[in-house]
Amino acid sequence: MATKSDLDTEVRPVDAASIDAAARLIGQGLPVAVPTETVYGLAADATNATAVARIYEAKQRPSFNPLIIHVPTLAEAERHAEFDALARSLAERFWPGPLTLVLPRRADSPLASLATAGLPNVALRIPAHSAMQALLRAAALPLAAPSANASGRISPTRAGHVLASLRGRIPLILDGGPTTVGIESTIVAISGGRARLLRAGPISPEDLAIPLDDAGPDIEAPGQLLSHYAPLKSLRLDATEAGKDEWLIGYGDVQGHASLSPRGSLVEAAARLFDLLHEAEANSRASIAVAPVPDRGLGKAINDRLRRAAAPRKS
Ligand code: TXA
Ligand code: MG
Repeated sequence: MATKSDLDTEVRPVDAASIDAAARLIGQGLPVAVPTETVYGLAADATNATAVARIYEAKQRPSFNPLIIHVPTLAEAERHAEFDALARSLAERFWPGPLTLVLPRRADSPLASLATAGLPNVALRIPAHSAMQALLRAAALPLAAPSANASGRISPTRAGHVLASLRGRIPLILDGGPTTVGIESTIVAISGGRARLLRAGPISPEDLAIPLDDAGPDIEAPGQLLSHYAPLKSLRLDATEAGKDEWLIGYGDVQGHASLSPRGSLVEAAARLFDLLHEAEANSRASIAVAPVPDRGLGKAINDRLRRAAAPRKS
């Protein structure tokens, strides 16, 4: 099987032609590195689960963190999340800019569930950088973009940093010079008119000038949040057959009631993971079983998520 490290990584200065090329790659479901005012991001079509899976594959991340969704306008942001008066006032004061808002996701948003790691919230940001703005308009898609570094490496503030860490794993890096802000966006979660700081960043609490509430809203800090989204049903790992009253999620040769990937593609399996977990939960069978998934590449992140789902639920 060919791996992503076979790719030839082009580095091109930001201009109309390279933005066009980047938008075309994104339209084909591939991730490209692009500068924002904070750090370089690794951007892909947030409505295409396979494209989002390729971000994780390129970063070699051992787990699925929900991703920030970048949009060009407040109107576009409002297609994906519920904005209350507090969220709207922060958006109007700080966008475009290095502020990310975590808000309740709208049910009719077309974002891939993998982009939000299956969560009921979505992180949104309108970046200020002209290259990212141009790419958002040329691609005409919401772009999921984590920092463009391999997992465990520091965030990239120059195209050279991206190349050192992702060479051979992505097709294109747009070089817009060093980023101006240099640290990742401030993240604020808002619900029910209350705000909470999830990540300190370039916009300080004093700049925000709103009451920040450590107790609420009920959105966990990023590092802890996934364990709270275990399915309500019990889940058995490494299953090769469905037990009595089990809904079996297959992979490869294990067919199951539905399959993560009949042909054994880890990119396809990652793309389908959260949708199938939701389907298994909504189904009339009492519990869930999942076929073994190889523990390499993206399989590590898939197995990390499955182990969390199988762990006893925290209440
Ligand atoms: O400045 C930035 O924010 C850069 C540029 C590229 O925009 N992006 C960035 O993304 O730092 P990343 O993936 O490295 O960090 C995203 C953070 C993670 O800590 C993640 O857990 C949190 O945002 N996050 C994303 N979606 C979330 C959600 N639905 N609920 C809670 N936290 C979320
Ligand atoms: Mg990061």
